[in-house]
Amino acid sequence: MTDAVVDPQMIRTAAGGAGAAPTDPRAAPSPSSAKAVGDVILDVKNISLRFGGVNALTDISFDVREHEVRAIIGPNGAGKSSMLNCINGVYQPQEGSISFRGQTFKHMSSRQVAEMGIARTFQNLALFKGMSVIDNIMTGRNLRIKSNIFLQALRIGPAQREEEAHRAFVENIIDFLEIQAYRKTPVGQLPYGLQKRVDLGRALAMEPQVLLLDEPMAGMNLEEKQDMSRFILDVNNEFGTTIVLIEHDMGVVMDISDRVVVLDYGKKIGDGTPDEVRNNEEVISAYLGTSH
Ligand SMILES: Nc1ncnc2c1ncn2[C@@H]1O[C@H](COP(=O)(O)OP(=O)(O)OP(=O)(O)O)[C@@H](O)[C@H]1O
Ligand SMILES: [Mg+2]
Repeated sequence: MTDAVVDPQMIRTAAGGAGAAPTDPRAAPSPSSAKAVGDVILDVKNISLRFGGVNALTDISFDVREHEVRAIIGPNGAGKSSMLNCINGVYQPQEGSISFRGQTFKHMSSRQVAEMGIARTFQNLALFKGMSVIDNIMTGRNLRIKSNIFLQALRIGPAQREEEAHRAFVENIIDFLEIQAYRKTPVGQLPYGLQKRVDLGRALAMEPQVLLLDEPMAGMNLEEKQDMSRFILDVNNEFGTTIVLIEHDMGVVMDISDRVVVLDYGKKIGDGTPDEVRNNEEVISAYLGTSH
């Protein structure tokens, strides 16, 4: 059993984990090109995933460097969500391996992946609609709650101090995401764009080193997309968190990502800087053949 374990100020500094550069919280968020991208943190090698006769992913390899914003794009059904599901242990690919900070794994449970420091938001929101914003974001702290469940239920002694520290941490996330006015509101009553922001808050509460975002801007209007882009860049710049982002809006992808992987029918057809993929013939024809 542990006493209070969380310093709420950590949200300003430590979410990037080992090796994260100290940041000045007063610094204005700058374009991602201004930051130092580090070594490979996530290495995806020769991943193939089949569902019966469907080849969702075929021999996919790419890497993600520490502190970068790495986008995964491609038409509907290209395999983007399946790729994130392989990284975070929801799907077990038939072939290939994934390494995190040099440690290779073939089969990992979602919990093990989360404990290693990889958090995830979902294409279809996975929030508790009847629970308040603060309680939803608190669910992201579950992995970090150390005290015994009996003491937690009674809210006494160290358990109470621990809970207070976690709540303070969550309040910092709420301030960061500028949703103070809704902290007690049931999530189901919020507009969709704000629900997406709460989902990001829940993932941030896990203090991830790598954040996997599956279409964080889907269904948003222009202003909501701009807000969400700013929060993603702030998380990346201020906390040093590495971001892997699936997004259909090419304007957003080109604006905020450092490098882009392009999937089509489960195969990788492009990989490079936004400019490189934008000028890649195979990528252009994959997109011309779809409604995107
Ligand atoms: N659990 C599953 N069972 C069977 N087939 C699946 C499953 N998950 C994904 N697939 C199939 O794998 C392929 C890739 O799906 P995936 O959801 O990864 O695509 P996507 O690129 O995320 O598409 P979208 O842009 O529409 O979200 C599709 O043909 C899909 O039907
Ligand atoms: Mg998807």
